[in-house]
Amino acid sequence: MDAEPLEICLEDHDLGHGLREDARAGLAATPKWLPPKWFYDARGSELFEEITRLPEYYPTRAERAVLAERAGQIAELTGAKTLIELGSGSSEKTRLLLDAFTRRRGLGTFVPLDVSVSALRDSTERIAADYPGLRVRGIVGDFTRHLDRLPAGGRRLVVFLGGTIGNLLPAERAGFLAAMRAALEPGDWLLVGTDLVKDPAVIVPAYDDAAGVTAEFNRNVLRVLNRELGADFDPAAFSHVALWDPEQEWIEMRLRAERPVRVRVLDLDVEFAVGEELRTEVSAKFRPERIAAELGAAGFAAEQFWTDAAGLFGVTLARAD
Ligand code: SAH
Ligand code: TRP
Repeated sequence: MDAEPLEICLEDHDLGHGLREDARAGLAATPKWLPPKWFYDARGSELFEEITRLPEYYPTRAERAVLAERAGQIAELTGAKTLIELGSGSSEKTRLLLDAFTRRRGLGTFVPLDVSVSALRDSTERIAADYPGLRVRGIVGDFTRHLDRLPAGGRRLVVFLGGTIGNLLPAERAGFLAAMRAALEPGDWLLVGTDLVKDPAVIVPAYDDAAGVTAEFNRNVLRVLNRELGADFDPAAFSHVALWDPEQEWIEMRLRAERPVRVRVLDLDVEFAVGEELRTEVSAKFRPERIAAELGAAGFAAEQFWTDAAGLFGVTLARAD
């Protein structure tokens, strides 16, 4: 079957509006910040795919190893009729699940949801071509706002891979899990991938690679502001910073002004002193107990927790109570 036309929850003007609001709030704040979803225009989505292939970026390979080992079990345990994927990107690893569900039969519909129209258009076309008989309905949407738009009915499995849940701040994460639970029925399932706490000497290079791809990805958000809001950032004036915060147990990504920078964004004059930093992203790392506790607080029962052989990355299968 061809992929169905993308369902649009977010129009270009909503995206533009959101970006405007976020830029106004974040660039006027001290310290300055921007939310991470603005990384993912077409170029940002491509750069992220490049990150997943870097030697230093272990999370994708580790999560793929878990899914390769457990996909059959996930298909059996959940018996899902509908597979929904949040922040789906290329859905490359999700193919392991689709393969397992295809062998088992019974999965009718795949619903990837992403803010990135370009990533979603590519992935839905390819998956529809490679899985004949599967209904593929992509949704252009924001997983912090549009969970009420997920298809109802049938046994559902929602997957949220890549450790993307760790890109939400703790309060946002609690809000997300509560909204997720509210969108599901008892007996539906959530599969969530989380990068695990480990030696920062392993984590930091994954966010500061030798080839500089992550630095380009980080600076890409400035290009998005230039193009979408007519800002005049010189991305070359900013260096990439990836910092391990041992208290919060997260990596913090920042852009540091290497010279005094003055930018015009919308009606704002924004000044950066030399060395001043803009926070662009956190990537939280988890301990197994905390994952189960947060899921439990939101009304999910964590039934399975799996890691790769080296214990780098965790995948939790939880049931909506
Ligand atoms: N799941 C893929 C991609 C992870 S990168 C993997 O595991 O490799 C994060 C993805 O989430 C990107 O495709 C990005 O466009 C999307 N994304 C980020 N914030 C989002 C939001 N608020 N709503 C929907 N999608 C979002
Ligand atoms: N979800 C990914 C992660 O936290 C996103 C990511 C990887 C990322 N590398 C990045 C985000 C660099 C910003 C900058 O691992």
